[in-house]
Amino acid sequence: MGTLCRVLDEQKRKSFDVMQRRTFLKRLLVVGGAWVAAQRAGWLPSALAQEQLFFVPPTVHHVSEDSATLVFRLSLPTANGLVRVFEGDQPVLELPYDASATLWQQVVVPGPQASHTYRYQVEADGAVPLALMAGQPGMPWEGLSFRTQPHPFPLRVAAVGDSGFGHTITRELGQVMAQQQPDFFIHLGDVVYWMHQYNGNAYLNWMEKYFIPFQDVLARGPHYATFGNHEQDGPAQLDGWPSYYWMFPPFNEDQNDFGARSWYSFDYNNIQFISLNSQLFYSYARFFAPQQEWLLQKLQRDDVRYTVIFFHISPYNSASLNQWDGLRIQEQWVPLFESAPCKVALVMGGHAHIYERLLQNGIHYLVAGSGSDTIYGEGVPMENRVFFARETCFPMLEFYEDRIALQTYTAAGAVIDQAELPLRTF
Ligand SMILES: [Fe+2]
Repeated sequence: MGTLCRVLDEQKRKSFDVMQRRTFLKRLLVVGGAWVAAQRAGWLPSALAQEQLFFVPPTVHHVSEDSATLVFRLSLPTANGLVRVFEGDQPVLELPYDASATLWQQVVVPGPQASHTYRYQVEADGAVPLALMAGQPGMPWEGLSFRTQPHPFPLRVAAVGDSGFGHTITRELGQVMAQQQPDFFIHLGDVVYWMHQYNGNAYLNWMEKYFIPFQDVLARGPHYATFGNHEQDGPAQLDGWPSYYWMFPPFNEDQNDFGARSWYSFDYNNIQFISLNSQLFYSYARFFAPQQEWLLQKLQRDDVRYTVIFFHISPYNSASLNQWDGLRIQEQWVPLFESAPCKVALVMGGHAHIYERLLQNGIHYLVAGSGSDTIYGEGVPMENRVFFARETCFPMLEFYEDRIALQTYTAAGAVIDQAELPLRTF
């Protein structure tokens, strides 16, 4: 990749360290090895499209201080791919990619400056492909940008789960979320339901139930999804893997399990974010111990301001369905969180299709399985709950150096919960 990239702005070229970039890319190659090998096994060429489309539109999966990781999947092979990066109207980088052997592409944009905003577009054979959509030739997927770390405080993060039905209200929620201009988006699992729809075409299901509803959010920053129970459904498989794994390949060396993103962590502004696979309590038990060992290491970190943990099955909730699914998590994870040197401040989950905020032993818990029109009733009220709502909504979080604030928005843009979440004192 290094020999091919043409840097238009000499000053920009000098701003990054080539050796560092190579080391990063090498690491990425190693962790992505299984993913790439799997692509070659049975994926080419696709007969589903006669013209070039994004079956998976380009999105940013991570930004550091000096790189951005993009992922997309084309419909047809081409050796003539190009990622263009702009700062304002100024082109700063042209990065060729070769999709003749694999339609899935993970492109690391090297060398952006810290705390800068860039626009980007992805071309194939000299044109920007349309994105796949149901019943239409394709839709524009434009206006793409990313901002490198560090971000000014507060870091602004939107989160929601259980959104993947394709409900109209989820699109409305996505619009309200985009208006809030989050720095990044966390999906709390059950990203796409009922993948037998659209004749079982995985790409159409992902487009209609995830990428299109959250298009304006995904166009401007990274998204991080955690693994939900419905990610394991039979129809959710794509070429022998849960399609989640194709959609979210590894972006750092800190990931494991099938060579894919099943549990992982990343830092923003020296705040640690950890995504866990809560399904491992219930299935694929052989991966439970490796995840647990990895988690214990992450919890030992004492070089971060504080830590935010998210996974699909909420340990506490007062919903009428799935209320007690998190009992084992209460028993086995919560005590670890409470005693961790990394200062666990907030734990987020979904699975229960309600919105709830709880506080226990100084740790704030948010349940936001509230991303669709399918909202559960109220079950047994949790003793430690602070706020509960049976409403389609999402929390907009603001992470400061020393506290967290939140406002929770409905799909109509109304604020139903607003709070300061102090960090517990240690
Ligand atoms: Fe779930």
